[in-house]
Amino acid sequence: MLDVIYLFGPNLDRLGTRDPAIYGSATLAEMESRCIEAARVLGLSAETLQSNFEGELVEAVHGAVAKNRAIIINPGGLTHYSYALADALAIFGGPKIEVHLSNVFAREPWRHTSVVAPVVNGTVVGLGELGFRLATQAVASLL
Ligand code: DQA
Repeated sequence: MLDVIYLFGPNLDRLGTRDPAIYGSATLAEMESRCIEAARVLGLSAETLQSNFEGELVEAVHGAVAKNRAIIINPGGLTHYSYALADALAIFGGPKIEVHLSNVFAREPWRHTSVVAPVVNGTVVGLGELGFRLATQAVASLL
């Protein structure tokens, strides 16, 4: 059992080259290793998973029920319409934090809605990679 699973949704495998002005220049691999380090310094073990497939993320959340104590998730575009992912997250009983690198509220109107927000403990938006560190502190405190 690892304490935290960091989940990254569709297109986040393109980090580093995808709109760096919006998402920053760090690659997914860099972000994942910094997340694991952020967890480690707080005494938490961690793993990461990125998928471009909604069903794979749903199954990762199901798997987390028996395998992880907390979820930190950037669902990417699924944030805005995936009731399936929201339903899966609702099943998970431990702390859950949603993170967005960009300030979704300063962008297109369709990004202003998160169907995931009602089933997580909290959401961090617009702070880039710092958002993952803050989310890690949040789960450490909630656990
Ligand atoms: C994002 C914001 C989403 O609207 C977008 O679809 C992403 C990334 C963010 O981290 O800012 O893929 O979740």
